[in-house]
Amino acid sequence: MMARKRVAVLISGRGSNMAALIEAAKDKTYPAEIVLVAANRPDAGGLETAKAAGLATAVVDHTKYGKDRAAFDGALQALLEQHRAELVCLAGFMRLLTADFVARWQERMLNIHPALLPSFKGLDTHARALAAGVKLHGATVHFVVPEMDSGPIIAQGAVAVHDDDDEAALSKRVLAVEHRIYPLALKLVAEGRVSVVDGRCRIAGADGPQGAMIVPAE
Ligand code: GRF
Repeated sequence: MMARKRVAVLISGRGSNMAALIEAAKDKTYPAEIVLVAANRPDAGGLETAKAAGLATAVVDHTKYGKDRAAFDGALQALLEQHRAELVCLAGFMRLLTADFVARWQERMLNIHPALLPSFKGLDTHARALAAGVKLHGATVHFVVPEMDSGPIIAQGAVAVHDDDDEAALSKRVLAVEHRIYPLALKLVAEGRVSVVDGRCRIAGADGPQGAMIVPAE
């Protein structure tokens, strides 16, 4: 088997997507291993989950860097190098990264967004999806580019929106999809099966999972 890709996961909060990645990587045949979980907030709940799983954790507290985004990103970069990370997964990481940092990790940094991009970039995606009356909603894993919630789409998962959905109910169903598509997307990338052509992801290999997941209406 090829060496597993060394992955750093960056979080800001509870880290349920991080936990899904940790769970997937417990399988020795999974092509990636989590070598670091780092948070920009010392109180990020996911840090405890990561520690309990026996993983290396770190905090780069953005408040210590004031408006100096380059210095914050520099500290992050040093940490990633220290742990010899090869891929970075943003998982509920609520900081914008500098274009320099993003360029360094081009096609090696993934993000998960709780909407079917390019619809509903930004915050409050579930409330906005409900307000718009869309019938399908979901989540997207994409490569990170300097522009927020943009970049080549690796995987998407869709759920039906129910007439009686509120934000809590819808976000819960989408979160369950997030926890399935993030490990899938990371697997595809770690296996070297994802290439970007004209700004779009192509996934090599006729068999096995591709980047689409439609969760049947329950
Ligand atoms: C997820 O919905 C993710 O898509 C969004 O922020 C939330 C983070 O949740 N960007 P968690 O920290 O992974 O539980």
